[in-house]
Amino acid sequence: MSRLDSLLEASVVGSFTTIGHKVRSKQWDAISDDALADRVVLITGATSGIGTTVAIEAVRRGARLRFVARNAEKARALRDELAAIAGHDDIRYYIADLSLMSEVAAVADSILEGEPVIHVLINNAVVLPAERQFTDEGLELAHATNLVAPFLLTNRLLDRLRESAPSRIINVISGGMYTQPLTLDDMQSEDGDYRGAVAYARAKRRLMVLTKMWADRLAGTGVTVNATHPGWVDTPGVRDSLPGFHRLTRPLLRSPEQGADTILWLASSARGGVETGKLWHDREVRSEYRLKSTIETSAEQNRLWEILDETTAAYA
Ligand SMILES: NC(=O)c1ccc[n+]([C@@H]2O[C@H](COP(=O)([O-])OP(=O)(O)OC[C@H]3O[C@@H](n4cnc5c(N)ncnc54)[C@H](OP(=O)(O)O)[C@@H]3O)[C@@H](O)[C@H]2O)c1
Repeated sequence: MSRLDSLLEASVVGSFTTIGHKVRSKQWDAISDDALADRVVLITGATSGIGTTVAIEAVRRGARLRFVARNAEKARALRDELAAIAGHDDIRYYIADLSLMSEVAAVADSILEGEPVIHVLINNAVVLPAERQFTDEGLELAHATNLVAPFLLTNRLLDRLRESAPSRIINVISGGMYTQPLTLDDMQSEDGDYRGAVAYARAKRRLMVLTKMWADRLAGTGVTVNATHPGWVDTPGVRDSLPGFHRLTRPLLRSPEQGADTILWLASSARGGVETGKLWHDREVRSEYRLKSTIETSAEQNRLWEILDETTAAYA
């Protein structure tokens, strides 16, 4: 990491905003037009924001794109847009509401049936609820969508990713994670007043921990597992869920292209195929912690896995 990059990293505003991207990207090579040629890339949350940009840019670089969406109309429109960019029809989507584990399990079955090979899985879908909501399956919405769904989907697709090696799993997390330790005694944010941003950030901290655990479990299999946080990006999600933050920071927010860059880079670069179990931002490894009080123990990591195993047992 250059000295300038270290200086930027020391300040959240310097690092997370468009400033960080503009300064750092001067040192980068462009991702080549054939960087994902014939790679099967599966992404969740492609119908909005960063996910749409990742999908478009991956297709421009030759990926055979597959995506999971909850809204069939949006999915059809995106598929048509991607097929027009690709110049072929080898673009597919799968429909599922990822807040419901019955649907996650069903879509995993459909994907396993439809996709003999998966080279890259990108867990990107997200929700930041305005108020405490529980799904019909009894899970708090942010916990279900942002954590339990990627846990279940990834585990259900793991054998296919192993068979497809070299392959990659990329978990899109958030700098919001830095504020939260691995809270295991209130998994569903049931205690006290509900704050969607806290429930969201807790799920991201937990997904970061899972990233390291998958990386350990998959060591030597040719499957790398990494997490990345995109910085602060101007997306429909931020505009709708954090209107005050959006108003305040708008001139400094990254474009979706800037936010998507490291996801695409991890999907296609040599380093993304070798390094594993790490957190990346702007194409560099970053610390998972900004506060000592958020560092978890390995016993806590194992307990997280056990809890999620119990939560998803009926669908495993
Ligand atoms: N934007 C930022 O500043 C920022 C900062 C840090 C991290 N991130 C991370 O970057 C990623 C993308 O964020 P974004 O801002 O681009 O998000 P976004 O604009 O809100 O898009 C979220 C995507 O997730 C999908 N989704 C939500 N709930 C779903 C469900 N139950 N089932 C299926 N799909 C569902 C949405 O589908 P619909 O189109 O149907 O709504 C949409 O495609 C997330 O992982 C986020 O945590 C973003």
